[in-house]
Amino acid sequence: MAMDADDPQVEHIPVLAEALAERIDLPQDGVMVDATVGHGGHSLLFGERLGPRATLVGLDVDEKALFRAAERLKALKCKVVLLRCNFREIADQLDAAGIGPADFILADLGINSAQFADPQRGLSFQVDMPLDMRIDKRIETTAADIVNEADEKALADLIYEFGQERGSRRIARFIVQHRQNQPIMTTARLASIVAAALARPGGKWRRIHPATRTFQALRIAVNHELENLKALLAAAPRRLKGGGRFAVISFHSLEDGLVKADFKANSAAGVYDILTKKPIVPDRCEAERNRRARSAKLRMARKR
Ligand SMILES: C[S@@+](CC[C@H](N)C(=O)[O-])C[C@H]1O[C@@H](n2cnc3c(N)ncnc32)[C@H](O)[C@@H]1O
Repeated sequence: MAMDADDPQVEHIPVLAEALAERIDLPQDGVMVDATVGHGGHSLLFGERLGPRATLVGLDVDEKALFRAAERLKALKCKVVLLRCNFREIADQLDAAGIGPADFILADLGINSAQFADPQRGLSFQVDMPLDMRIDKRIETTAADIVNEADEKALADLIYEFGQERGSRRIARFIVQHRQNQPIMTTARLASIVAAALARPGGKWRRIHPATRTFQALRIAVNHELENLKALLAAAPRRLKGGGRFAVISFHSLEDGLVKADFKANSAAGVYDILTKKPIVPDRCEAERNRRARSAKLRMARKR
């Protein structure tokens, strides 16, 4: 597979790594599946504890991330298998690669820091970028396609449902008005339209930039994030050994709600024991060191 590296200056700091390391012990010859290998930070942490008969599988949709992971994991003693795929296809991909049930499956959802900073991806409104938002370049519809083509109601519903944004109708109306003059093709233009829609006379911004929730909504829609997570949650029980652990780190309440409900249903059905009654969150020290960690929630379950 021909792969490009992303910006080596942008380092992704693994979130809740210590919390995971304290709670997960792997057998020397175990199988770990990192469903979101990213730059391989979590994989390296666990891979260093694995012996030569163990297998570490890393999945990612982003070939640039896989390139970084391959570099980082190349000195490990265990067998390392990196697959460019969406974790919603985890069952078929592991079958095709001949990987049996795992001792540990980890999903650290969302995006890595290099993707956020990458000017080609259009994930940030702090720097002006093309309005793209695709983590996987094989996806056809970009954020600009949605913003310029969806009707006003569909836009409002999407921003409300995936961004939990109460001003969604006003934002959708502003977007439709502004795109009539000229298509909205950059992150900065969209952010300024959203900010204008939510501006209150003499008012100050809330704790977060006014465009944050709209950008979250578009990113979730473009990358089908919630459908992907549902498919991973559905596939996980069959890909775990008895006693195998499943850990999911999520970054917003829509994801966390799906994980919580799935663990609860599987616990009631006798499939999982829930290991985290309440989600584990970063301590103050980690939240100060790593801004991205602030909204992280870790839930873990063990297959019976
Ligand atoms: C938060 S980062 C993971 C960082 C990683 N734990 C580390 O320590 O370097 C999330 C990664 O998951 C990937 N990703 C997001 N959705 C995915 C999906 N549905 N299937 C596979 N990979 C996905 C992203 O491309 C990104 O590299």
